[in-house]
Amino acid sequence: MINFVLRTNLPVSSRVAVGDGALQEADRLLQQCEIGKRILVLCQPSTRQLFANPLVDLLSAGGYDVDLMELPDGEACKEHSVLLDVWSRLQDKNFGRADCLLAVGGGAVSDLAGFAASTYLRGIKLVLVPTTLLAQVDAAIGGKTGINLPAGKNLAGTFYFPSAILVDPQTLRHLPERQMRSGFGEIIKYALIESTVLASTEFRGGPRSLLAVLQDAVKEPLDCDNPSLAGIITACIKMKLAVVAKDPQEGRLRRCLNLGHTLGHAIEKISNYGCTHGEAVAIGLVFACRLAERLAKLPAEQTAVLIQLLQAAQLPTTVPEGLPKERLVETMKFDKKRVGQTIKFVLPAGVLGNVELDADVHPDNLLELL
Ligand SMILES: NC(=O)c1ccc[n+]([C@@H]2O[C@H](COP(=O)([O-])OP(=O)(O)OC[C@H]3O[C@@H](n4cnc5c(N)ncnc54)[C@H](O)[C@@H]3O)[C@@H](O)[C@H]2O)c1
Repeated sequence: MINFVLRTNLPVSSRVAVGDGALQEADRLLQQCEIGKRILVLCQPSTRQLFANPLVDLLSAGGYDVDLMELPDGEACKEHSVLLDVWSRLQDKNFGRADCLLAVGGGAVSDLAGFAASTYLRGIKLVLVPTTLLAQVDAAIGGKTGINLPAGKNLAGTFYFPSAILVDPQTLRHLPERQMRSGFGEIIKYALIESTVLASTEFRGGPRSLLAVLQDAVKEPLDCDNPSLAGIITACIKMKLAVVAKDPQEGRLRRCLNLGHTLGHAIEKISNYGCTHGEAVAIGLVFACRLAERLAKLPAEQTAVLIQLLQAAQLPTTVPEGLPKERLVETMKFDKKRVGQTIKFVLPAGVLGNVELDADVHPDNLLELL
């Protein structure tokens, strides 16, 4: 059952459907988005049988002319050769601007599909069906697209908003446990920015804070049967959409979504992606708290609360052994804009839930703290 359909007031308004059974409603939702008759479904090897084939059948029965392309798994799908293949297929099939690319899978396929859709004919319709927890709460929400270049990850990208996003928590039933935990790394980040989002956007939270909800949720296994899961996913999506609606292109407020990501990105890169995105963000969140403690912006007890939650979710809290600290600091310096001698960080402030968007940090503090 779909528990909400929400229109956002973004450059392109997006319909977001969240709930068990959202996939079965795909043809009805697409009709509301007034897309053309042609759809190219992009999937990953893991999502072809499970979700893409049934979607092709459903949409074909609904009168659409549907084609399917299976892309390489993981980051390999974000290479420019794959982008060329997708553009070529769109051209072979004579796609026009009203026709649609529909991505079914994790953040890798939604990033590639978004980039392809935003650039082909200067923009065709896009629909996303995220099937990893990370993609449902983060990668498919917010309009950032990207592909990787030989020099680094996500170096070419656009801001481009899908016509619809269909989030069905039941698709997570097949997700490996580690990928599920990785999604919780990103979810815990949302708990750490909730008060700032409440104060700065139209987001209206539930009766309890996301932090309190998560502290209860981790008492049960963090799988598809966790009774809090659908509510948690919905809260994160609403929070991200509220931030993005206020600041679509990361002028200032949107930076709060990067909490924990400065060290997180460096860990992903230096570990050669041995750490998943959510694991690296989890470590980055603890680091941001410690940095805030050092600058007398956060009491140590607040960091302890975070660490307890991360450990209950079986996420790492310290930098893995063997990663050279100097290289992490160098990578962090490049990740951030320098202003004079200091670099700007998003840091927890006062209490978990509240963040300062541009705290000044001297690079020497980073190495000492690591
Ligand atoms: N655009 C954004 O705002 C944004 C934000 C965060 C991350 N990202 C990007 O997202 C990517 C990471 O996303 P991800 O963690 O979803 O990784 P992913 O897309 O590589 O998926 C992880 C693995 O899960 C498999 N999978 C997907 N759905 C499944 C299911 N339901 N059951 C079983 N297996 C399934 C995939 O085939 C893959 O092997 C990175 O490229 C990152 O840069 C983008």
